[in-house]
Order: sequence, then C-alpha cells, then structure tokens
Amino acid sequence: MENRAFLEIRCGDSREILKSYPDGHFHLIITSPPYADARKKHYDSIPPENYPNFIASFHDEFWRVLSPQGSFVLNIKDKVVDGVRDRFVWKTIEKLASLGWLCIDDYIWTKPNAMPGYWRTRLRDEWEYCFHMSKQRDFAMYQDAVRKPIGNWADKRLANLNGKSNERHDSENKSGFGRDLRNWIDRNTVLPGNTLSVPLVGKNMGHPAVFPVGLPEFFIKLFTKSGNNVLDPFAGSGSTGIVAKQLERNVVLIDNKEEYVDLMKRRLAKLKFCEKPKEKEPCLFERNRKTRTKDEKKVLNIKKTQKIYGKKK
Ligand SMILES: C[S@@+](CC[C@H](N)C(=O)[O-])C[C@H]1O[C@@H](n2cnc3c(N)ncnc32)[C@H](O)[C@@H]1O
Repeated sequence: MENRAFLEIRCGDSREILKSYPDGHFHLIITSPPYADARKKHYDSIPPENYPNFIASFHDEFWRVLSPQGSFVLNIKDKVVDGVRDRFVWKTIEKLASLGWLCIDDYIWTKPNAMPGYWRTRLRDEWEYCFHMSKQRDFAMYQDAVRKPIGNWADKRLANLNGKSNERHDSENKSGFGRDLRNWIDRNTVLPGNTLSVPLVGKNMGHPAVFPVGLPEFFIKLFTKSGNNVLDPFAGSGSTGIVAKQLERNVVLIDNKEEYVDLMKRRLAKLKFCEKPKEKEPCLFERNRKTRTKDEKKVLNIKKTQKIYGKKK
C-alpha cells in the first residue's frame, strides 16, 4: 500500500520557517540541537554559557506550533569543561521550565557501542539525555505501542505468589506508586523502562552528529499515532524523517544548512520517500580532467598561472 504520510523538507532557520505553520499543528517535536561548543567545523556552535538562551530563542515557535496534548523530546548531552561536567544542560531545562514547559521525565539513551578509551578521571561516556516535556499534564501517550516481551524473570517470580507477594503493595513514601504482582500472571508483555539502549550509527553518513533511527522511532511510537504530525527542527541528515515516514506520520524536517538539506533529500529519496534532488553542476575544479572542454582547460590554466605568479593588475 502506498505510504500517504506527508514529508516536507525545509531549508532555513527553524525559528523563521515555523512561522508558516498554524498553531498546534504538530503532535510531537523530536530533535537533537547542535551541542554546545561542538562540531565547530560543521555548523554554528554555541558556548555553554549561552546555551540556555540559545534554546530558549526557539521557545515561542516550538510552543505555538505544538498541539496542547503534544510532546517535546530534546536529545542533548552536556560536556566536560576543564575536567568538570558543565551543567548548562540542566540550566537549559530549567530555563524551558521557567517558560512554561512541564518536564515530565528524563529518558536516558545508552549506547552499547560507545567509543572505547581510557580517561584518568572518568569512564566511557555512553549515554545522553532525552528530556520529555509537554505543555500540560494531560498529554497524549501510547504506551502499548512500545511494549516489550515480559522476559523469563516472570516464570520464576510469579510461579508461587504467597504472603505479601499475593496482595497489593502501596509505596510507603506515599508517592502513589504501588504494585500488585498478581496482575502480571499470564501476561506476555510489559512496558519498557525509561532507558533506551540503541547502538550509535557508523560514521560516513555525510553528517557529523547523526542519531540512530531507533531513537526517534521509540518516541514517535510513544507520543503519536498514525497520521499525526511530527517536527524535527534541527533535522541534520533526516533520521527522524525516515522513521516517521515508515510509521506513517506526517513529518517536517528543517535544517539551516543547505548541504544537510541536500543530504537528507538524498537519504530519503533512496527510500523513495521524496524526489531525488537535482544533481548540482560540479564546479570546474571538481570535474573529471577527461570531461573538461577546451575552454574550461584554458580557464583553469589561466587560474593556475595566476595562483603561481599572482593576478596581473
Ligand atoms: C545535532 S545535528 C542533528 C542531527 C540529526 N539528529 C541527524 O540524525 O542527522 C543539529 C543540526 O541542527 C542544524 N541547525 C543549527 N541551527 C539551526 C537553526 N537555527 N535552524 C535549523 N537548523 C539548525 C545544524 O545544521 C545541524 O545539522
């Protein structure tokens, strides 16, 4: 059957591009913004001390385009400055909370294939935050969509329930949480925890900070249903777009670098989710020697001579 989910790829600053979308249009914003002081060679980097204000500068549009029952998932990681973890990420979340976002939960993405290495003061850095925020306490959540097999612990633990195991147990600290093991007899699935183990994707994707599609996949399933609208306002290589389309969610991908917009179009075109972008004319210097015309060779020779001897006045 034809995949009718709508895909839009936009090039520009998401604060500007989003102005063309109606209030409450998106059911989920899932994204990974540029990290502080990272990838300076590739895109604008933001010093840690400016980071809360940088993210807050997207607040007006993110808040406006998110539906009242929508969710905002922010994948981010702090960095070590002078041997110490800089807490700009916590400050960023507090800033967003001060602007009205409810910080519902912190999910942790663990990377089973994180880079090995040796650091005298710390171990391998193998996880990142995924902060789940919403506009109101009553937000959409489809927990059944992320159920996982109950696992064989249940065979033993639920075999002979007796004593306290055979009655409801309410939390003593009055948190409202309770458990009743009897409810799990004959069940095959359980809800997963709030940590996700998803391996990092290999390099050479044409983008320096690609997240694995398994990450947006989990949150898209958890917070949207088929036909809903998903936004990635820092879309990079378009990972969110791939899985959103596969799950039949409409998706808008925005990146302010033309190079990455081109890359995501190519990535999504391979899966037939959009048209392949037109090949850009390779510039004169990139073109194969054999295919250069006489005139082009002449121009190149002039340029080479100018480089060696300087431009004639
Ligand atoms: C961490 S990367 C996202 C990578 C993406 N999750 C993926 O899997 O490929 C952040 C992206 O945000 C883009 N970006 C930075 N500032 C932006 C802005 N104001 N509006 C839109 N995109 C922006 C950068 O060009 C970069 O590609």
